[in-house]
Amino acid sequence: MESQLGLIDESFSNRYSNYVYEALDELPNSFTITDPSISGHPIVFASREFLKMSGYSKDEVIGKNGRIFQGPGTCRRSIMEIRDAIRAERTIQMNLLNYRKDGTLFWMLFHMSPVFSKDDGRVIHFVAVQVPLSKKRRRSSCGYRRNGTSLSEDGSQVQDFVFGSCRKEVCSDSLMELGRVLSLEQMLEHDIRESEHEEPCEASDAEKRESMTGMDNIFSLLTHYSELTGRLVCRKRCSVPDVGLLSSSLIISLGRIKQSFVLTNPHLPDMPIVYASDAFLKLTGYARDEVLGRNCRFLSGLSTDASTLCLIRESIEAEQPCTVRILNYRKDKSSFWNLLHVSPVRDACGKIVYLVNVHIEEQGCNGKTQERRGMSPEKRLLSVIGSVKIAVRSSSISAGSSES
Ligand SMILES: Cc1cc2nc3c(=O)[nH]c(=O)nc-3n(C[C@H](O)[C@H](O)[C@H](O)COP(=O)(O)O)c2cc1C
Repeated sequence: MESQLGLIDESFSNRYSNYVYEALDELPNSFTITDPSISGHPIVFASREFLKMSGYSKDEVIGKNGRIFQGPGTCRRSIMEIRDAIRAERTIQMNLLNYRKDGTLFWMLFHMSPVFSKDDGRVIHFVAVQVPLSKKRRRSSCGYRRNGTSLSEDGSQVQDFVFGSCRKEVCSDSLMELGRVLSLEQMLEHDIRESEHEEPCEASDAEKRESMTGMDNIFSLLTHYSELTGRLVCRKRCSVPDVGLLSSSLIISLGRIKQSFVLTNPHLPDMPIVYASDAFLKLTGYARDEVLGRNCRFLSGLSTDASTLCLIRESIEAEQPCTVRILNYRKDKSSFWNLLHVSPVRDACGKIVYLVNVHIEEQGCNGKTQERRGMSPEKRLLSVIGSVKIAVRSSSISAGSSES
C-alpha cells in the first residue's frame, strides 16, 4: 500500500508542477483523474465537488478504481463500454448510474478522456468529469429496468443478480471497507424502492455543456502545469511514440507486401506496433500515426471473445505461431471477422525480433471463411508470413554485413 501511495504521488509530481493540486482543487467541477500505468488503474486525484457528490473522503477514494461507485443497478453494458474506451484510449460520454457512500443512487453524465504525453504519445492519465443529472427525463439507451441484466420486477432474483454480476466484488468490498449501515438485503430493498421512483435520466444541453467546459478547464490546467516541468501533456495524441526505427531497406521490402499485416516489437514495453501495411490501414480505417506505438488490443472490442485473446497471449508467451478467428473493430466501430495469424519473426541469428500479425477479413457470415478465387485464406496467410520473414532476415543480413 505504501509503495502504491508513492506511485500515486509520483504520478502527478513527475509530470506537473506542485501547484497543480491547488489549481485543480479550485475548479468547481466534479471530476477524477486516474493513472492506467499503476496496477489496478487507481484514482490519483478527486476534486472537492466529486467528493461532495459521492459522500466519500479523499482517503477513501485515492488509490481505488472508479468501479467502487457502481452497484447492482449500474448498467453492465455501460461498464463494458467504458472498459472498451479505456482499452481503445478514446473519449466516451454516457449516462451512468452510481452509488454514493451512503448507498443512495444517482445518475450522472460520465465524460472520460485520455491525457497523452506530448513526447511519446502514450496515455499517461484518464480524466473523467461526472456531472450529476438533476432532472428526471426519459432516456433511450441502456435502461435501469429495461436492461435484461437489471433487477428483477419482484426482487426474487436480486440476490442472484448481485452475487452473479460483475459488480460482486464492488458490493462486498464496499460493504467491508466502508462498513455501510445497511445490510445487503436492506440496501437492495432500498435500491429497488428507489428504482421504482427513479426514471433513467437524459442529460440536458446545459449539463452536456457543463461536462465539456469542465473537461476544457481541466485540460488547460494540466497542459499549463506540465509546461512548467517541461514534460508536456496534450488532449490529442500529437506524436508518434519512439518505437525503434526500422531500417529504410526493411520498410521498402515490407512495402512490397500488399496484404494486411503489422509488425510488433516484443522487446518494447506493451509490445507496440512498429510497422503497419497500407492494406491494414485500409482495412481498419486508421491513419498510420494512429496505430504506430500502440498495442494491437485496440482492434478488439465489446464482443471480442476473451478466450481467443487468451489463446493469442499464450502462443506469444510460448513463442509459437497461432491462427484464430477473431472479431475485430475498425476505427468507425464497425466489426469484422478476422482470420488472424500471429507468428514470431527471427533475424538471421535466430533471435525473435518481431511478431507479425497477418489479417484476412472474412467475407462470409458466422465467421466462416469463404474461399475466394485462387489461393485459400490459409495459403494467403502463409504466403504473407513467408514474405515478411524473408524481408526481415535479408535486412538483418545486410545490416550485419554493412556493420562489419
Ligand atoms: C478517469 C476515470 C474515472 C472513472 N470514474 C468512474 C466513476 O465515477 N464511476 C464509475 O462507475 N466508473 C468510473 N470509472 C470506470 C471504472 O473505473 C472502470 O473502468 C469500469 O468499471 C470498467 O472496468 P471494469 O470492468 O474493470 O470495472 C472511471 C474510469 C476512469 C478511467
